[in-house]
Amino acid sequence: MMTTDRDRWNAKFLAGEAQSTEPDPLFVEVCASLTPGRALDLAGGAGRHALWLARHGWDAVLSDVSDEGLAIATRRAADADVTLGIRRESAGETLAWAAQDHPLDLIVVFWCLLREQFTALPGALRPGGMLVYKTYNSEHVRYTEGHSLSTALDPGELAIAFPALKTTLYRECEGVAELVARAE
Ligand SMILES: C[S@@+](CC[C@H](N)C(=O)[O-])C[C@H]1O[C@@H](n2cnc3c(N)ncnc32)[C@H](O)[C@@H]1O
Repeated sequence: MMTTDRDRWNAKFLAGEAQSTEPDPLFVEVCASLTPGRALDLAGGAGRHALWLARHGWDAVLSDVSDEGLAIATRRAADADVTLGIRRESAGETLAWAAQDHPLDLIVVFWCLLREQFTALPGALRPGGMLVYKTYNSEHVRYTEGHSLSTALDPGELAIAFPALKTTLYRECEGVAELVARAE
């Protein structure tokens, strides 16, 4: 039987993995100074970034393939008395939905390689909308310790992944790439 991303990530969440409630430092560095609007936490797992956005006045949508990740996020949203839009589907399906009728002021993607969606991603942003993307590249130590390279960027790949956007911040260091870019 084929193991899907959903199966794999459901098992990880049930095992207690990937459940930090702390936002990533890059996320805070960028998002703390933005004016709230419509935001998407894409492949957002247990929703730490969507929850932060909702608490800070954003109309926040959390999208992920994992039922278990989304169930954790839903409980956390109820506990915090905030509202999240929840979409249980692949990143490609969410981007198609957003591009059609729900353009976004902000998309955040953390620790998930969505290479097949790089072309579609800018089309889900409004003019002026921001993309914040951070994940591993193949030089990260985790890949010398046995993780599959299929989840890693190539070195330098993120820098040139979104030619339709204007890059405002790019860093790549110790196997992690960070990009902030704006739709014009
Ligand atoms: C390492 S977790 C990161 C979660 C979250 N972005 C964070 O930083 O806390 C990766 C997430 O990507 C999701 N994922 C993997 N492939 C996906 C896909 N094709 N579409 C949507 N979500 C996906 C997994 O279910 C998992 O929740």
